[in-house]
Amino acid sequence: MRSGYLVRETLVEITKILDPHIPRASREAQLLLMHHLQKDELWLISNQKSEVTNLDLLYEMVQRRAKNEPLEYITKSVSFYSEEFFIDRGALIPRPETELLIDEVIKNYPDSGAFIRFAEVGVGSGIISIILAKHFKNAKFIAVDISENALEVARENIKRFKLEDRVELRHGSLLDEVSEKIDYLVSNPPYIAQDAKLETNLSYEPQNALFGGEVGDEIIKNLLDEVLRREINFFTCEIGYDQKDKIQNYLKNTDFKSLEFYNDYSKFDRGFTLKI
Ligand SMILES: C[S@@+](CC[C@H](N)C(=O)[O-])C[C@H]1O[C@@H](n2cnc3c(N)ncnc32)[C@H](O)[C@@H]1O
Repeated sequence: MRSGYLVRETLVEITKILDPHIPRASREAQLLLMHHLQKDELWLISNQKSEVTNLDLLYEMVQRRAKNEPLEYITKSVSFYSEEFFIDRGALIPRPETELLIDEVIKNYPDSGAFIRFAEVGVGSGIISIILAKHFKNAKFIAVDISENALEVARENIKRFKLEDRVELRHGSLLDEVSEKIDYLVSNPPYIAQDAKLETNLSYEPQNALFGGEVGDEIIKNLLDEVLRREINFFTCEIGYDQKDKIQNYLKNTDFKSLEFYNDYSKFDRGFTLKI
């Protein structure tokens, strides 16, 4: 790309590069250029004749996107539950359906303002604990992840939302590093089977955020064991679309108050809340 391009020409040029590789190329071209210029859409529309500088940097980002690297890793930004979060390749990109897990928790636990201790297993970028901490103003969170890289991303977001005093990060597996009494456990664990064939863009995401074991539901079952053993009153967990029966079977001979599943936007089973 030569230097001295105007906004309008740059958009045409980068759309041409992206078009053979990704859907919605012209929209993504706009998003990349907005990120490059640190300007919003209104500015872009009304400044079509402004010159674009540092084209090499922009071109480098466009090439990454043309290779199917997710836009969020390139711009280091992701929206979730109407908030902007920092994201990087160490953590899974939050998915829209995980917003439903937050809604479930809020529905199941009307906030009385009393103290409540949450734990989250698999905090990733921190989105679940952070959004819940913003809602439950008197709650504390112990948020665990097995990946140091994910914890670094979560740390950045906790700082961004000034929640350092209420969301504590711990490095470890499951609840091994948590000895406190927990009132409510939340998790969006890895739940895909080891041999599942995945789309290419998923290859950019941390594999230990996706695969839950040979069958896929191993971590969910480990968490259920912990919930029952520690008598954690509430557990809300995201699951794969084909895991409802397995979970019901696993709990067949167990005493609990209720087990309710919820669906995602496509009406697939996507999670459950267990009350014991
Ligand atoms: C599906 S991602 C969820 C991330 C984030 N909570 C979200 O919803 O976007 C699962 C996370 O669990 C972590 N993880 C995998 N195995 C774990 C284990 N045994 N103990 C704790 N965390 C684990 C991964 O590193 C990853 O960050």
